[in-house]
Amino acid sequence: MHDTLNAFLQSHCSNAKRLVFLTGAGISAESGIPTFRGKEGYWTIGSKVYQPQEMATWSNFSQMPAQVWRWYLYRRAICHKAEPNPAHVALAKLEEAFQDNFTLVTQNVDGLHLRAGNSFDRTYQIHGNIDYMRPYRGDSSSLEPISMSTDQATLEAMSDDELLEALKRNGQPCRPHVLWFDECYDEDLYRFQSSLHVTSRADLVVIVGTSGATNLPNQMVTMAAQQGIPFIDINPNENVFGQAADRLPHGLSIQESAGAVLPTLAQALTSL
Ligand code: OAD
Repeated sequence: MHDTLNAFLQSHCSNAKRLVFLTGAGISAESGIPTFRGKEGYWTIGSKVYQPQEMATWSNFSQMPAQVWRWYLYRRAICHKAEPNPAHVALAKLEEAFQDNFTLVTQNVDGLHLRAGNSFDRTYQIHGNIDYMRPYRGDSSSLEPISMSTDQATLEAMSDDELLEALKRNGQPCRPHVLWFDECYDEDLYRFQSSLHVTSRADLVVIVGTSGATNLPNQMVTMAAQQGIPFIDINPNENVFGQAADRLPHGLSIQESAGAVLPTLAQALTSL
């Protein structure tokens, strides 16, 4: 891996200044958080009662807010127990080195990038953050950290009405700050245009641990592929972005885990 990576960086990125990293659930897999589409994934096994993806819609939430909240609070507790791994730490070090020339676009709602040390301003959480809520019509100025317990027994002891009451702010019911399947990306809450803008100006785009199933990441990688922006896909399994990288001279696919590759890549990029 080292030789291939170094050869790619030497020939395509010797003057690389602006870096964009795009991460998915795979980067947090080594921290113990299930992915979405893997064997134990959230969308594969679903919840106790509901089929995969049924839970994550506004339409479902508007009909049974307490059940959907309970599912997100359960996932939030898993995220709280997890710790950033060496791949997260490598990205925090890269931001420290590249400052405003570094942008992290993450699909992950687990907050591990921020806990590893990446800054809120340079981390575009394009699917939200499971630790935040907002009133139904709230914008980014109304985001608020969730203060509920992460202890499942405490949550289970609360009735649905008590739970929803505790999740109100100024008398208004709130929802998880997460993008749902029947909703669209936007700039204010999810940094849609900003993500495309930084990609268009990037000298290198690195994609880590995503299956490529969502719209904005697809637009970003298509842009890199079509505009000749060097891009690297890091994923132990075959995926659409790795296949695109294999087809193009300015693409590189590394079929290894994020934790094995990112510390090496970060070191190589900081010594260019
Ligand atoms: P997926 O579960 O679809 O894909 C996870 C990817 O991570 C797969 O391609 C795995 O091969 C890869 N992977 C697993 N272990 C890895 C490791 N150690 N290192 C690197 N890669 C690894 O998750 P996402 O692509 O993130 O959206 O899913 C994208 C979005 O779909 C999610 O953000 C979620 C979901 O619907 C919302 O909830 C809005």
